[in-house]
Amino acid sequence: MVRNRFLSASALAPAEGAVDRSAAVDRTTSGIPGLDVLIDGGFPSRRTIAICGATGTGKTAFGLQFLAAGADCQEPGIFVTVDAKPQHLIDDSAALDFDLDGLIRTGSIAILDASPYFTATRGQGARGGVDPRQVASDLAQHVRRMGARRLVIDSLSSLVPSALSRAEAYDYLRSLIRSLEDNLECTILLTCRPSRLDPQESCDAIRSLASGVVDLALRRRGNDLVRIIRVRKMRGTPLDLAEHRLAMEPAGGLAVGPADAAGTLPVFRPRPRPVAAEAPQPSDRPEAV
Ligand SMILES: Nc1ncnc2c1ncn2[C@@H]1O[C@H](COP(=O)(O)OP(=O)(O)O)[C@@H](O)[C@H]1O
Ligand SMILES: [Mg+2]
Repeated sequence: MVRNRFLSASALAPAEGAVDRSAAVDRTTSGIPGLDVLIDGGFPSRRTIAICGATGTGKTAFGLQFLAAGADCQEPGIFVTVDAKPQHLIDDSAALDFDLDGLIRTGSIAILDASPYFTATRGQGARGGVDPRQVASDLAQHVRRMGARRLVIDSLSSLVPSALSRAEAYDYLRSLIRSLEDNLECTILLTCRPSRLDPQESCDAIRSLASGVVDLALRRRGNDLVRIIRVRKMRGTPLDLAEHRLAMEPAGGLAVGPADAAGTLPVFRPRPRPVAAEAPQPSDRPEAV
């Protein structure tokens, strides 16, 4: 006789005819003004949400702002940085009037550097890579120690070992996302960069495995580029699929504007930086002899 390997989920199903929306989905505020109203009050708690977008669309800023919102409601958070150095995150935030260093000092946010995983991967041959359940269990230790309720991995696509085939990468991500959801009791943002050149198509995999997907993009409007945001998927949530403008301002951070057709938000242009009067400009320096 063939053993049935499916696990029965009948114990989780509500009694016949009973629909208990409150018990089904509680919500975690995104921290992005204007976003929660589009998704029934916030992200579904203790689920994974993919934040997808090309370089420069605002994924890292989104993740940090999500954690800062947690700090405001006694929900500490962990930011796992895969691509950027922790000190650069702190310095860049300070330059944008966001006191990440202060939130780290008060224990509201912790930054974890994922670079040791790459060292470990290199030591294990072509098929190498850290077991995704090991990654989840290492994170669980930090989550417990800190009492974290929010987690950001920036970016998850970079954490997938490059030697894996597309199918193996999908299995890796499924195992990792399941382990994170099962063990962490956190609402989790996973950033990813879609790329047509990525043979693993990891962003597509993350999109299909996560409970929610928020797409960020840059759109050309005349000579300018504007940032936009669209919620593509949010399980258990009635969705507005419209494209909205995403404003990004120093101190104010990210905010969702009206649906794009209205286009009333200002186009982002970098703030002019004061130039120190005494500092010699490169062209003023005497030629080296
Ligand atoms: N609060 C902010 N105000 C103004 N500009 C910002 C702010 N946060 C980030 N930026 C700018 O937007 C750029 C892209 O944001 P980032 O979050 O790094 O995008 P991604 O992670 O998608 O590459 C940054 O390099 C910075 O120049
Ligand atoms: Mg980034």
